[in-house]
Amino acid sequence: MLSYRHAYHAGNHADILKHTVLCNCLQHLNAKDKPYLLLDTHAGAGLYALDSEPARKTGEYIDGIARIWNRTDLPPALHTFLAALQVCNPGTKLQRYPGSPWLAGHFARPVDSLRFCELHSTDFALLRQEFKEAGRRVRVEQSDGFETMKALLPPPQRRGLVLIDPSYEIKSDYSRVAAAIKDGLKRFATGTFLVWLPFLPTLEARSLPEKLKKLPADWLYASLSVQASATRGHGMNGSAMFVINPPWTLRADLEEALPWLARVLAKDDAANWSLDVSADAGKLRSQHA
Ligand SMILES: C[S@@+](CC[C@H](N)C(=O)[O-])C[C@H]1O[C@@H](n2cnc3c(N)ncnc32)[C@H](O)[C@@H]1O
Repeated sequence: MLSYRHAYHAGNHADILKHTVLCNCLQHLNAKDKPYLLLDTHAGAGLYALDSEPARKTGEYIDGIARIWNRTDLPPALHTFLAALQVCNPGTKLQRYPGSPWLAGHFARPVDSLRFCELHSTDFALLRQEFKEAGRRVRVEQSDGFETMKALLPPPQRRGLVLIDPSYEIKSDYSRVAAAIKDGLKRFATGTFLVWLPFLPTLEARSLPEKLKKLPADWLYASLSVQASATRGHGMNGSAMFVINPPWTLRADLEEALPWLARVLAKDDAANWSLDVSADAGKLRSQHA
């Protein structure tokens, strides 16, 4: 049975990295008129109240999004994400944090299709409620995101982005992510796949990015850690995003955003970031520069 609830973690450093990457990819997709499919395989509740009991209990957003909300020195690469956050919080007070489905709904145009999968019954009900008036372009399912991914790829639009953001509470999630991407690339070689990865001191967590780098596709790997390596009881010190077939603009965006985020979100001197791309993705960028 699943027990993870994202409401305890919404707006923390990992969400900021994940959602910065997601927003910049969606903005890039919107640059062309052609419709796309967005599939969020592990969607969560969609939107989070920061005065809720779970958010107040961990206070993770306080060292996360609350540190950014009032800053006036944001690098341009973070403007897309912050503009969306402001739409989510009309007025001056930070009260809500947008999950990936909210952000997807914000960026997608009427021609685009959105599919959200969430297995946890409580979060599925909240997500369905959030999108109850969204119309036919949005479908919210209580389904296994890995299975739904197989069924939906390739999308008829032949343009698409898949976000895979498991909680990794089940060890097999690591191997399922690797298998899903491998299969996803066979079905839809030109799709953009975003995978969130936790920094945890386990073999599975450490080896997943290396496995993904071996797949036959361009990739980008971006990491952000806010403090020294996790010790017992201190939670997760950082995370990474692995992007397959990244938009050519993403590397430059993250080169600008990551140093700023590492500085502003730092909890100690060990805060750090990294950015790495496959050889061909590097070439792609120079071709488009
Ligand atoms: C990290 S949270 C998602 C956060 C969300 N993507 C965001 O950025 O706002 C992971 C979610 O995946 C759900 N989940 C776990 N295994 C799943 C599966 N196989 N298929 C669909 N949802 C799953 C969990 O219940 C949890 O709500």
